[in-house]
Amino acid sequence: MINSAKYIYLQPQNAIIMKKYLFLSIVICITFFSCTSSVDVSSPDGSIIVSFEESNDGGIGYKVQKDGKEIVSFSTLGFITEELPLQNGFDIKNVSKKKHQSSWETVWGEERIIKDNHNAMVVKLKHKSGILMNIEFRVFDDGFAFRYIFPKQEQDKLTITDELTSYHFTQQAQAWSIPWRTEYYEGLWSKRVLNEQTTDTLCSPITIEFEDGSYGFVHEAALTDYPAQNLYVGNGALSTYLTPWLNSEVKAYISTPFKTPWRMVVLTNSLPELVASRIMLNLNEPCAIDDTSWIKPTKFMGIWWGMHIKTMTWEQGKTHGATTTNMERYMRFAKEHGIGAVLAEGWNKGWEDWVHFEFTTPYDDWDMDYLSHLSETLGVQIVGHNETGGNAADYEADLDSIYRYHAKNGIHVIKTGYVAPIIRTKDGLQWNKGQSGVRHYRKVIETAAKYHIAIDNHEPVMPTGLQRTYPNLMSQEGVRGQEWNAWSADGGSPCEHVTVLPYTRILAGPVDYTPGVFHFENPVIPTTRVHSTLMNQLGLFVCFYSPLQMVCDLPEHYMEHADAFRFIEDVPCDWERSILVDGKIGDFCVFARQQRGAEDWYVGGITDEGARDVAVPLTMLEKGKTYDMTLYRDAEDADWQSRPYEYVIEHKQVCSADTLHIRMASGGGFAAEIKIAGCSNSHSDSN
Ligand code: NOJ
Repeated sequence: MINSAKYIYLQPQNAIIMKKYLFLSIVICITFFSCTSSVDVSSPDGSIIVSFEESNDGGIGYKVQKDGKEIVSFSTLGFITEELPLQNGFDIKNVSKKKHQSSWETVWGEERIIKDNHNAMVVKLKHKSGILMNIEFRVFDDGFAFRYIFPKQEQDKLTITDELTSYHFTQQAQAWSIPWRTEYYEGLWSKRVLNEQTTDTLCSPITIEFEDGSYGFVHEAALTDYPAQNLYVGNGALSTYLTPWLNSEVKAYISTPFKTPWRMVVLTNSLPELVASRIMLNLNEPCAIDDTSWIKPTKFMGIWWGMHIKTMTWEQGKTHGATTTNMERYMRFAKEHGIGAVLAEGWNKGWEDWVHFEFTTPYDDWDMDYLSHLSETLGVQIVGHNETGGNAADYEADLDSIYRYHAKNGIHVIKTGYVAPIIRTKDGLQWNKGQSGVRHYRKVIETAAKYHIAIDNHEPVMPTGLQRTYPNLMSQEGVRGQEWNAWSADGGSPCEHVTVLPYTRILAGPVDYTPGVFHFENPVIPTTRVHSTLMNQLGLFVCFYSPLQMVCDLPEHYMEHADAFRFIEDVPCDWERSILVDGKIGDFCVFARQQRGAEDWYVGGITDEGARDVAVPLTMLEKGKTYDMTLYRDAEDADWQSRPYEYVIEHKQVCSADTLHIRMASGGGFAAEIKIAGCSNSHSDSN
């Protein structure tokens, strides 16, 4: 049908045009009336309508309308498999629809209660070959999603070489993205027009700014036993490129019954609505862990930054970081400052070659018995560290004994690492985000849960909301994090970087960015530095969400600015509610978050290289109540390059009728703690 319409414009021979036009009109009408089937489902508020369409040759696709306008025109669905193509030749056997309204409580998160209101439609299809394939749609007030379901059937195995899902947006779209082969997703996001000149294949997710000022977020949810999706522009539409098995045409081996991950698109008129969307979490399965009482959000320090600024080493030697003495010093500091845990990297043997890691054998200068006892006495957890150097296969083979060892030593959080652009799984060398890698990471999460271990996954597959099902998957890297500011050849990330992430990477899930550097110059690698003011570092604790939030600098650096460090001591990392108050992608953001189970609010802002004034109406505070606010802001003459340490701490009483007017310096930010009056924080006023 669509091709016929295009054909009209492709026949410019004037002499015969009228005759042809008449003929084509008839063909088009026949196509419309006799051959195309369409069924649709709308969002609960009726603003979004998704229609499944089948053309005259049984080709399958969908369209989307938002507020009465077509926003996605006919876009293809289906697969190419080694066995046969599954893109046309389908009959609709049945269509069923359901309304859904519920809410659920998160174990931890940006919000305690999440509402799930959507309308669903399942279209049951039968291919001419006999293959059964259903497409399940869910339409929310802020977007839509669908997945492919292969019921149990005679043809019980399929080898997918291509997924044909596409998104044909009708408006010009500019996408914030990183290329699909960005190692570990550690790149600077950039904005580009999505059109035929877009030759790069992009990582999922992408965040879209549409011509009419509205926004989109294209990603996947519940990635299970399937390769991660990537996106490229092909045939005028944003199309799917599944991560392949290495050196192969194959993308996925599936056995029926099988459900693909959800393909999802958030569509909102404003950035606060985009950031507030919970579609991805709602599409994941409910919690699979019965007892979650052991999963606890916490801030943690670490024997870590020292290795990145190269004043300490991972391997044993003169400047070894993870020694018993050093760890005790960090743990006592953490105790004194109310930080719940300390990470130690380089405690175990194997760092000499980054290949032969031993996960249950400490170096000689690490006394596990002593430190595990100290951890219990102080009530400061040890965060374990398992760097695999990309050897996922050996790690997986020993997972049970490794996690048993950690649990026995009271270690219930492990940071995992896979430093190798191509990892070795039990299927040999593979992309970490291919099907085999995805299976490995899932095995890790499930095994860890058995031993009551939470995971902070570095060099991960991009998050897709699995933390709803496995809340022990607490945080993930998958970002060009703070460490790049220690050693990157380009001198460190530009100020803009942190103002892009809340609208892109972090929409996919919690991020272990490792905020909180308090000392920006690096004498060992003087060409690098952190491009921010101290107040920007404080703002990150509110703007970047992670239930395992690293407090990444050295204790001695924190003591250089003990009054500002107080904010980090106080700020929680588990929230009742979260709101984007104001922002612009790549320029700035201001978030307000309410502490979970409490009345207190924390507000934080960060800006790029442009200094700016922001107004923050405190309408989120409860009317009629008075609050004590401590505001940490850039001083008038602060800026990231020449005066990053100039700041002001102010105390005053505020209420919901107030508006804060705050200036953020170039590369700057602010943070505010707003507590019910009378419940002043435990620290005395030092300003
Ligand atoms: C890269 C990780 O991102 C970093 O946090 C860690 O310190 C090193 N790998 C070593 O595992």
